[in-house]
Amino acid sequence: MGCVAALEAVETRQDHISTAIKQQPFSQQHELIRAVITGVIRHYETLQHWVVRQTKFKPKDQNLRRLIMIGAFQYQFMQNGRSRETIFQAAETASHLNRGWAKHIIYAVLNKLRNHDIPMKVNAPSWLVEKLQQDHPKEVVDRILTHWQTPPSSLCLRIDPAQTSRTKAQNSLQEHGITTHTCTLSTIGLHAKQQDLDHILKLQDHSVYIQDCIHQHSPSLIPKLTENARVLDACAAPGGKTTALLCAQPKLRIDALEINPSRAKRLQENLSHHDQAKVIIGDALATTQWWDGQAYDAIIVDAPCSATGLIQKKPEIKLIQSPENIVKLQSKQRSILDALWPLLKNEGTLLYSTCSVLSAENEQVVLPFIESVNATGKSAAMIPQGYKTRLPDQYHTGGFVALIEKQKTKSTELSTG
Ligand SMILES: C[S@@+](CC[C@H](N)C(=O)[O-])C[C@H]1O[C@@H](n2cnc3c(N)ncnc32)[C@H](O)[C@@H]1O
Repeated sequence: MGCVAALEAVETRQDHISTAIKQQPFSQQHELIRAVITGVIRHYETLQHWVVRQTKFKPKDQNLRRLIMIGAFQYQFMQNGRSRETIFQAAETASHLNRGWAKHIIYAVLNKLRNHDIPMKVNAPSWLVEKLQQDHPKEVVDRILTHWQTPPSSLCLRIDPAQTSRTKAQNSLQEHGITTHTCTLSTIGLHAKQQDLDHILKLQDHSVYIQDCIHQHSPSLIPKLTENARVLDACAAPGGKTTALLCAQPKLRIDALEINPSRAKRLQENLSHHDQAKVIIGDALATTQWWDGQAYDAIIVDAPCSATGLIQKKPEIKLIQSPENIVKLQSKQRSILDALWPLLKNEGTLLYSTCSVLSAENEQVVLPFIESVNATGKSAAMIPQGYKTRLPDQYHTGGFVALIEKQKTKSTELSTG
């Protein structure tokens, strides 16, 4: 029952899996529901295609389709799931859904799995596969799709160098039976096994923070700033980039802006040990409502995005996102850059990043933005070190980063004397 309701919430309300699970009663079942629903959604296209071919349920009976998808996933993909009990439980659940009449259909469909496995399909919606194919070579698309298909086996940690060193943190974690490896991308990063997540959380070790390496690495791209330089983190919650930047450059003053009040509360908690960071609840697009008029030395725009770089960890993103939403996100990302550019000092840097592997939210935002800035002649924008899409199979999560420099144009220099 809980699995069906959670899958319905993801499909119809675009809830994230964690939100859908929280709404289910019987908290002792939440971890099982999470494992089943995450697996069903990871294999969504394969399961849905197979079930729809076997049955034709009316729109009001879509929970039966969901129930058979769940039973089929448990039977074919879960350890110890291949049993008569799995099929029996699925059929019994039909009664709890007030669809007792469908029991024999469920038996008939799931019993087919005793002799034949479900043929695998590409487990991503066709619009998303097409976008990947437009943006990346075939070999890269295949790698991304394979990665999404595989449950994560490791997670990334960031150490706080003010409190510990990587070696000390590794030794201390090892004392608790947690083996880690150093990250090659981030100098303050470690990789641990995914199965140790609960254990790490229970340690409540504030010198170690769970954060993907690409996200801990990107603030380190900001050139060394002078003491007390002012930085705006424009889309800041829950504070991963703000705290990563403060790890690298502790003497900065940071305005951490966040539009969503409940996310701002979490941001405030995460920044509670950092007096030099100020949380502002506000909209990056409405700068007059919160900006004090003093230009920033650096700005971070970790833009709201499709999060397609996170699909391995959160497979529901492929169901929640849509081509229409990508268009809306692209327009918002561009508007945020346009709104914040005037707040950056000359010779300042703007770090633009996303957790998306789609060029629509990355190059197709940044490059036209630079062209339009340069066309105005007021200031010049350039990306001296180029931009980079990090692929999810290399760094656990995928994403994009571009460091944009602001320079006075000759005409501005002349006119300002
Ligand atoms: C990708 S998340 C940021 C993650 C964060 N930088 C970190 O590293 O932990 C994007 C954030 O931007 C916020 N946001 C979206 N639109 C915004 C806007 N117009 N102004 C300010 N914040 C915004 C979202 O609520 C969300 O918390």
